[in-house]
Amino acid sequence: MCGIVGYLGPRVATDVVVGGLQRLEYRGYDSAGIAIYDPKEGLQLRRSVGKLIGLIARLHLEPARGHLGIGHTRWATHGGVTEINAHPHRDASGQVVVIQNGIVENYLELKARLVEQGITFVSQTDTEVIAHLVGLYYAESGSLATAMRQTLGELRGGNAVVAICVNEPDQIVAARLGNAGGVVLGLGEGEYFVASDVPAILDYTRDLIFLEDRELAVITSAGIRITTLAGDAVERRPISIPWDPVAAARGDYKHFMEKEIHEQPRALMDALRGRVDQEAGMVHFEDMRLDDAALRQVDRIYATACGTAWHAALVAKFMIERLARVRVEVDYASEFRYREPVLGGDALLLAFTQSGETVDTLAAMEEARDQKVFSLAIVNAIGSQAARVADGGPLYLHAGPEIGVASTKAFTSMLVVAYLFALRLAQARGTLNAAQMQPHLQALIELPGKAASVIEASMPICAELAEHYHRVENALYLGRQANYPIALEGALKLKEISYIHAEGYPAGEMKHGPIALIDETMPVICIAPQDEIYPKMISNIEQVRARHGQVIAIGTSGDQLLASKADHVISIPATLPLLQPILTVIPLQLFAYYVALRRGCDVDQPRNLAKSVTVE
Ligand code: G6P
Repeated sequence: MCGIVGYLGPRVATDVVVGGLQRLEYRGYDSAGIAIYDPKEGLQLRRSVGKLIGLIARLHLEPARGHLGIGHTRWATHGGVTEINAHPHRDASGQVVVIQNGIVENYLELKARLVEQGITFVSQTDTEVIAHLVGLYYAESGSLATAMRQTLGELRGGNAVVAICVNEPDQIVAARLGNAGGVVLGLGEGEYFVASDVPAILDYTRDLIFLEDRELAVITSAGIRITTLAGDAVERRPISIPWDPVAAARGDYKHFMEKEIHEQPRALMDALRGRVDQEAGMVHFEDMRLDDAALRQVDRIYATACGTAWHAALVAKFMIERLARVRVEVDYASEFRYREPVLGGDALLLAFTQSGETVDTLAAMEEARDQKVFSLAIVNAIGSQAARVADGGPLYLHAGPEIGVASTKAFTSMLVVAYLFALRLAQARGTLNAAQMQPHLQALIELPGKAASVIEASMPICAELAEHYHRVENALYLGRQANYPIALEGALKLKEISYIHAEGYPAGEMKHGPIALIDETMPVICIAPQDEIYPKMISNIEQVRARHGQVIAIGTSGDQLLASKADHVISIPATLPLLQPILTVIPLQLFAYYVALRRGCDVDQPRNLAKSVTVE
């Protein structure tokens, strides 16, 4: 959710930076700050908690003058919402300031090392680690770019980092690590812009350069120089963004669905923001109106939704039952309302909805209210009906607008929020203590980075598979346990946008019917990561092979056995079993996307479907 803006040029830097941050307000944030440099005034830092209007008021009283500056809107991850935790952060010498989007996955390690070296931390943020590291390396080399390269070389995670240094008064250094935080550079007439998101700088320029993973840009009034983190020069010509607002919003991508698939690492990170306290081993939901006592009372959860969101609810059942030991029933919202459900005082209704406007889901929430049962909504659209009527509060995804009719980033974000909710429930009910929470929190923190690597690795394979299979008439998707809903979701994605008939099945059920369909023309997509059910999944794959079905397997990296049994394999990195669905679904989204593309279908607006279904 955080926003980054930087400026170097003849304009008043404060106006450009604050104006750019205002353009990013839609992303949400809880504090803001800027650092402006001027040869006479020196480095001027202004930060404030709350909305930008507070920072602007502060700037009226204490103006910051200069033609070089950076600014940031922060959505808390590590450390509370305080002025001290707001960016920019300074190193110990006070010469270097940095702003960051992302999560430093190894910040506890790095912080311990810096504390041992005698560094005193003033904030609770992971970003301060970056400021101190850059400061220390700068003292050795006297080059901000070198210090940034060395620092980013030590970070684990997905990060966008921008720094300035009082001793290099004509320079901004911006770098990107991983795919969770974007960096875009804007080129004007004798002026340069840096931002996390295109809208921040569209008022000034349409000529943009996007930094790739592990690249760093040194921006001076003489121009922009891009290198890799290893120091090799990168040649990149700017691209021109069209003036049409829809095309501009789609940026570099052909379709919104493609864009949204690629936005997932960042969306997952935004879903985690402010909710994970690694040091205390706790999860917080600021927006939830149920306290520990209320959560302890919950004896049953009814999870309800439609479409893709219903698949998220099915996965959530596994998460909540395993981690918090609370029974979960999952219903289609359109069925729930008519089956006269017996809810009872100790029940909780958990609605999953991207739009927050789906009529059946809203009716299920109404049913809960009629029976005096609290409801919570795992919802994306801010201020939507579901968010307003959920008396336990909305648990927002913070995934940003989802435009493609086929839901992608909202789905994976729902799974992250459901996992956090399961942990929150476990925390209140004592089924997990702080120490037992740690591996879950660490795995969550590492998830955006893993999602980014899955996207990158599976893109070429899925494009090739689409070339091979785009003419098929049927496809079967198999999975077990928490990956069974992923089989359903994979089949739904293919159906929705490519119009190929596809079915998802729990793999163990295959022999009770669908096996009759398998012949040499049938692609069978088998989700088989190495978990406790893996040996069973392997036998199911054998059953498919015995009928000459074509096996496309999604499995854990390095799994030779699976590779020997499948016609094609897509690998995903290992993670905790209940987080695997968040990674296994990504190649299925990409496969559906490339198949639809190859068949010439309207990916973003498939026939007969609507993004938000407000009629019964
Ligand atoms: C429609 C959309 C689906 C979505 C479903 C539920 O069918 O096409 O992508 O999953 O509605 O929508 P919701 O906004 O409640 O998540």
